[in-house]
Amino acid sequence: MNMSFLLSFLSHFLLQLVIPTLVSSSQSACKNKCGSLDIQFPLGSGHGCGSPRFFPYVTCEGEGDAEHLVLTTHTGTYPITSISYATSTLTISPPHMSNCSSMHASPASFGIDWASPFHLGSSAFILLACSTTSSTICDASYAHLCASIHSCPAISSLGLSPFAPTTSCCVYSPSNLNTKGDLDLQTLKCNAYSSVVSLGDIPTDPNQWDYGIELKYMGEAGFDSNILEASCRGCERSEGICGYAPPRNDFVCVCNGMNSSGTGASCNSNQGVPYSWGSYDDQSKVVPWLKHLL
Ligand SMILES: *[C@@H]1O[C@H](CO)[C@@H](O)[C@H](O)[C@H]1NC(C)=O
Ligand SMILES: *[C@@H]1O[C@H](CO)[C@@H](O)[C@H](O)[C@H]1NC(C)=O
Repeated sequence: MNMSFLLSFLSHFLLQLVIPTLVSSSQSACKNKCGSLDIQFPLGSGHGCGSPRFFPYVTCEGEGDAEHLVLTTHTGTYPITSISYATSTLTISPPHMSNCSSMHASPASFGIDWASPFHLGSSAFILLACSTTSSTICDASYAHLCASIHSCPAISSLGLSPFAPTTSCCVYSPSNLNTKGDLDLQTLKCNAYSSVVSLGDIPTDPNQWDYGIELKYMGEAGFDSNILEASCRGCERSEGICGYAPPRNDFVCVCNGMNSSGTGASCNSNQGVPYSWGSYDDQSKVVPWLKHLL
């Protein structure tokens, strides 16, 4: 057997050994894309990625074609359908939510965790098939949305006939949900709900509405937030992914998708040197103290 054959055999054998470990370590490392969505700071694909305030609320689940970004709250796990980093908003699509083409009773309530960085954005809930519509929560100025959505043939799957009076429908546009942070359909005595982010070009055509629940998230707060965001932008420009490392949750720039290959301020400099100028944990200590001072 000649030497070069042996070498090529050996290197082939070594590659077989090495590739699976590379793949499995990059799977646990941070991602800048999940399914079709770009992931940027402060969102992250999992533990150690993005800002620690977003874990375990936002995670990238599944693999290959099934890979998708989800929001998890105490009421369930919801697919994230769009993100706007410019406006700090994201849209989720709960599986129990109705829309013009598909309506169904919703057994579950929807809620946001009080401690999470999320609060409701500007979408409006349309509560459907309610036995009473309490005037205190229903916003009469949006009653035309009820009339429009009642024109969807799918309304019959809620036991209602199309174009029937809309007295069992109510538009609820809360600045926040009840004190528990929940849309509690049982208490509201409604069987189903829809939620609309935008009415599109033809506001009277519910087939064209953009359905979903819009959530806004808070950016980094506190003493170090400007330095943090500047460092993070530097990291992202160098193709790195911003993250944090336990136990102090120090800022790290995760390079090449590999946690181990360098945690510098950017992937072009300080490679391999842990870059720590403060920690997210310190920030949470700084904020209440600053507030006290003001
Ligand atoms: C990076 O490494 C640290 C320590 O080895 C580990 O605790 C952390 O979860 C890792 N983060 C990622 C995103 O792999
Ligand atoms: C309507 O809801 C169904 C089932 O929940 C979903 O498959 C479909 O994509 C939704 N359509 C729109 C336009 O949101």
